[in-house]
Amino acid sequence: MIAIWNKLVAILAASLIGMLALVAPLKAQSVEIASPDGRIVVTVDVTGEGRPGYAIARDGEAVITRSALGFLLTDQDKLDRRLQIIGSETASHDETWEQPWGERQFVRDHHNQLTVRFEENSDERRRFGVTFRVFNDGVGFRYVFDDPSMGETLRVAEELTEFNFAQNGTAWWIPGGEWNRYEYLYEETAISAVPLVHTPFTVRMKNGMHVAIHEAALVDFAGMWVKRTTGTNFRATLAPTGAQAARAVRDLPFHTPWRTIRISEDAAGLAMSDIDLNLNEPNKLGDVSWVKPHKYIGIWWSLHLDEESWGRQTGSGSDDSFTASRHGATTENTKRYIDFAAEHGFEGVLVEGWNIGWDGNWFFNGKLFSFTESYPDYDFEELARYAAEKGVPIVGHHETSGDIGNYEAQLEAGLDLMAARGVKSIKTGYVTDACNLRYVHPDGRETRECTESQVMQRHHLKVVTEAAKRKIAINAHEPVKDTGLRRTYPNWVAREGARGMEFNAWGVPPNGPSHVPIMVFTRMLSGPMDYTPGVLSLEGRGQPLQMTKARALAEYVVIYSPIQMAADLPEHYEEHMDAFQFIKDVPVDWAESRVLDAEVGDYVITARKDRNSEEWFVGGATDEDAREVTVALDFLEQGKRYTAQIYRDGAQAHYIGETRFDIEIEERSVIASDRLELRMAPGGGFAIRLVPIEA
Ligand code: NOJ
Ligand code: CA
Repeated sequence: MIAIWNKLVAILAASLIGMLALVAPLKAQSVEIASPDGRIVVTVDVTGEGRPGYAIARDGEAVITRSALGFLLTDQDKLDRRLQIIGSETASHDETWEQPWGERQFVRDHHNQLTVRFEENSDERRRFGVTFRVFNDGVGFRYVFDDPSMGETLRVAEELTEFNFAQNGTAWWIPGGEWNRYEYLYEETAISAVPLVHTPFTVRMKNGMHVAIHEAALVDFAGMWVKRTTGTNFRATLAPTGAQAARAVRDLPFHTPWRTIRISEDAAGLAMSDIDLNLNEPNKLGDVSWVKPHKYIGIWWSLHLDEESWGRQTGSGSDDSFTASRHGATTENTKRYIDFAAEHGFEGVLVEGWNIGWDGNWFFNGKLFSFTESYPDYDFEELARYAAEKGVPIVGHHETSGDIGNYEAQLEAGLDLMAARGVKSIKTGYVTDACNLRYVHPDGRETRECTESQVMQRHHLKVVTEAAKRKIAINAHEPVKDTGLRRTYPNWVAREGARGMEFNAWGVPPNGPSHVPIMVFTRMLSGPMDYTPGVLSLEGRGQPLQMTKARALAEYVVIYSPIQMAADLPEHYEEHMDAFQFIKDVPVDWAESRVLDAEVGDYVITARKDRNSEEWFVGGATDEDAREVTVALDFLEQGKRYTAQIYRDGAQAHYIGETRFDIEIEERSVIASDRLELRMAPGGGFAIRLVPIEA
């Protein structure tokens, strides 16, 4: 009742402000907007010298204290003072839209919107707006530059938007702008000890409030890093672009990407928020029924184990520690993988190292890659025929080693070839240091770019839209972070953008047990990740994986992606057929997803319902601590009986040592009122398939 009353008050207040705005410019220097349930309130104001800012409270308690808004420009005065609020408009929106594929079929976009118009008290009388959308689980806002008083072109030197946390607490982060992009282990520190970081950037304040800062719809603008200024105060930092003072340049009218702030009492709420997707534009590609969620295998793990090689020479790896000279991408080997995929129901075989350019240390040889010419021992035409016969498409691979110029020059021909060979999805790659991407501008000028540079956003969308014309999906590695653009371009199915499975082959150290329980509440807030789970042999290149076998299965449920790799070698799966069955059974497209229980960095338990059947799946993953958990099955349909196929840690299981293989696989008959008591071993977890029993 109180919630409804709050809502009414919020709507009345909002419409009153809206009406006033129609009558005369609003003179008040403070404007408020509440979420549909009335609990989150955003206050926008100008104070003192006319500096604009905003603050966010939830249930009357500060979440973000007053934080500045503004820009530093290269050829105009700084835009952050002598401003007045000259008007505002409000709107409300409640719509449920359908995802072509996703972690849930239907997404509700329910928010109240406030656009505040500012004018500068100067001769130029520069004007701009900021639009806020307030959801029940967070806030998004973006700057709107649609007034000629700002000139024809805006050259942004820096964004001055602040995010000032109301309290100290714990933060989980990876460093921003460092050479290895997003491929770092997460740090856990006090909020007041965080440096320059990437988003999504997640904190839990002392009062228990969970907050994550990110951005949505990063299109033709520089990506945002956030940097602590003092105490628990943070400010945006736009990624630089090669040899140019302005980090973003746009002709008017335009608006910036959305700055997003998820707010939740618990970790689960952060993970289940859809605000970033809601802030993106609807699908621009029309009929995307050709984008098919799928599981795939590939000539991949063998390369990272250094048992086979990308190129044909000794040492064809990403650093000098790779010594194998056995070319993996041969016609014969690819057929072997296609056969295995066909036998076990996989819908793709990734082949890396199929094309000219991999010989030697390819990390530094982007200019050598051909995207049309195969190695002589890879008969692409014959393989396309074989793949079609077996019904298992080849998954294409375009590694650029960061040479965007070389890639863009061949992009259309490279995509045409893949389309002609029946390829439905391509894994791209941008292996090089973060701000060392070689970009060639339309006028022939060459610059070096960061992953988040404005021009790199243009590049990624060029690849995605050119691929869409050929009905090909894109899975980018070493990508720019996800900002929800899969809603607008549903063929952008997944990306890497974090420390993936490859680090378990050769990373020092490998991904520890807490990596996934942190990543679910940081990296995964942004969108699907091609983590490439499923290494059931639990062995990297001379180093054991830091997880139990049951945990390896759980990752298919707790990490969302519409494309999931079964990353291990076929011959390894032959040795682990018992657990492999779960990888064969688990779907990749969901009607519903719920995080049932979690603490950031400690553990996560997720339930998902298959989009194409009545089956449910549950996954649990813990850090280095063992945990006894109770899973209430109340998400199941009442009155229905299910067979629970449970893959859980054995009594001896531990992520260190040979007991990491200790797994118990059992079946139980369950109903919605049942509760499963499960023990997760250190570095362990569980995976459950729930199959309805037909009456
Ligand atoms: C890095 C990617 O993350 C990995 O999956 C791939 O095998 C190599 N680059 C080569 O493209
Ligand atoms: Ca990578």
